[in-house]
Amino acid sequence: MDAYMRPPRTKSLRLTACAAVGVALLAAASCAVRPTTIEPSDAMKAETRILGVLEDMYRQEYGMWNVTREDGRLLRILAETSGAKHIVEIGTSDGCSALWFCLALQTTAGRLITHEIDDYRASLARENFQRAGVDHLVTIVEGDAHKTVTNIKGKIDILFLHADKTGNLDYLNKLLPLVRPGGLIIAHSTTANSQDMKDYLDAVTTDPNLVTTFLRETDKGIGLTLKKPASTR
Ligand SMILES: C[S@@+](CC[C@H](N)C(=O)[O-])C[C@H]1O[C@@H](n2cnc3c(N)ncnc32)[C@H](O)[C@@H]1O
Repeated sequence: MDAYMRPPRTKSLRLTACAAVGVALLAAASCAVRPTTIEPSDAMKAETRILGVLEDMYRQEYGMWNVTREDGRLLRILAETSGAKHIVEIGTSDGCSALWFCLALQTTAGRLITHEIDDYRASLARENFQRAGVDHLVTIVEGDAHKTVTNIKGKIDILFLHADKTGNLDYLNKLLPLVRPGGLIIAHSTTANSQDMKDYLDAVTTDPNLVTTFLRETDKGIGLTLKKPASTR
């Protein structure tokens, strides 16, 4: 029988069946995408807490020479992607860059040792670490880092230089033996303060055991130096 000649009743039954299938499919789809209440994980809560303290610090902007948000995110990314567990920072100030590192250290289960010569800034950092809930991840070493770094014994995955720029070469000479092969040295302000760290820049670009590149488009420039793994030396 030609479709045009089918009795209307059969046609309406088919339409009803189609509609029923459609409704069932829609219901199934809506079940599949129905939003469920998702509780933030402890890690998400910890991250939110750290970011909240960082935003507070950026809002206050009281001349602590902190890394920018962009630079901070870079520090976090470098630490997290490399799975860094042992980070050493020279130049804590009130703890801004340290907090960016802590975002990574939560994931890598690592620790940061940070050095600060100014006791007022060190006390602000201590408060900020407590507020952000990361004081168990960070050790602040107070005093002149040129002296205090000689007490560091363990290996270093990432060394971050952000203190007296003229002192960078001394920090490098003292700490390079502790940076593990494959480890990273990050120097801040390599563009803005290149004149103050010429000897450092010479060292990291001429030592055959190191590979260095410069990010010039960041706030004040950042130098990234890889300590080559033994197999590639
Ligand atoms: C540019 S600020 C560090 C900013 C910090 N990394 C941040 O992004 O929040 C430099 C800090 O290095 C500290 N500093 C300078 N010379 C130092 C030294 N010899 N030993 C330890 N800290 C030093 C200063 O007191 C200052 O707080």
